[in-house]
Amino acid sequence: MSAIIDIHHVHFRVADLAKQRQFLLDFGMLVDEIDGVLYARGTDQSPYCYIADEGEPAFLGMAFLASSHRELQRIAAIDGLAVEDCALPGGGKVVHMTDPDGLAVDLVFDLKAVAALPVPTRLPLNTGTDRQRKNERVTLSDAAVVVKRLGHCVLNVSDFRRSESWYKQRLGLLTSDEIQLDDQGTVLGAFMRCNRGEQVVDHHTLFLVQAGKLEFNHAAFEVSDWDMLMRGHDRLTRKGYEARWGVGKHVLGSQVFDYWKDPAGFTLEHFTDGDLFNEAWGSHKAPLEQLLKVQWGPDGAP
Ligand SMILES: [Fe+2]
Repeated sequence: MSAIIDIHHVHFRVADLAKQRQFLLDFGMLVDEIDGVLYARGTDQSPYCYIADEGEPAFLGMAFLASSHRELQRIAAIDGLAVEDCALPGGGKVVHMTDPDGLAVDLVFDLKAVAALPVPTRLPLNTGTDRQRKNERVTLSDAAVVVKRLGHCVLNVSDFRRSESWYKQRLGLLTSDEIQLDDQGTVLGAFMRCNRGEQVVDHHTLFLVQAGKLEFNHAAFEVSDWDMLMRGHDRLTRKGYEARWGVGKHVLGSQVFDYWKDPAGFTLEHFTDGDLFNEAWGSHKAPLEQLLKVQWGPDGAP
C-alpha cells in the first residue's frame, strides 16, 4: 500500500561549489565533495539528502525513497522504465522518471545506510501548565549538524491537475490540504503527504503549485527542535546570508519555519514541530489565506 517512505534528496546545479559548500555547513549539514559533486546529509542514516553539481544554476530534480523492491518495480513498470544500479554514494537501485513538466524525478531503494549522527536534544520544555523540567538547567548542544533530514519539496508546475495525477499515480501520495482560490473550484495547488497507512507522516512531502510553468519553489530540511532552528537562524544571520521568510509558524502543517536564500539563489528552509498525520486523517480543503497566514511571525511567502 505504501509506495514510498519519504522524499530522499534534491539535486541542484550551483554557480560556485565552494560557496555552496560553506552555506550548507552553515545551514547545519555534513558535506562531502566527491569528483566535483557536493553530497550533503543530516543526522539521519541516509548518505545524502542534497546534491549539487557546479555550473549554471538550475534545479535538476528530486528523488523519493521506495518502500520496497516490489514497489520500485511496480512504479517503474507504469512507464516501462528499467530498474538500474545507482552509481551515487550508498549505491542501491534507481528508476529515472520524468514528470509532466520534464523534471527528473528518481525513485531510489536499498541505499547503504550510513551511521546516524547524534541528534542535538534538549531537556523538556516547561510550559504554563506542564512543568516537566525540575532541578535541571538547560544547556543547549553546540552541534554543527542540526539538520536531520529532507522533509519536503515545493514545486511550481505548469498544470497542477496533470502533475497531481502523475505524482499520485506513481507515489501514492494523499492530499492533506488543497488550496481553494474561490468557491467555483479554482485550485492553486495541494499539500500532499505519503500514505503509510496507520503510520503518521509529515503534513506534506510534496506541494505542487499551479504557476503555468515549472519552477523550483523551495526545499525544506527538518531540524531537531526550536532551539536548534533559532541557533541556525542566528548563525546564518551572523554569516550575512539573506533571510527569505521567518521565523514563523505556518497555519497549514503548523511547522515553525525559517526560509533562507542559498548562494545560488535557491530557497532552502529549516523547519521543526510540524503536524504528523496518518491515512485516516483524510484530505481537506483550505482557502488561500490559510496558506499565506501565520500563527505567529511575519506574513508573506518565500
Ligand atoms: Fe516548506
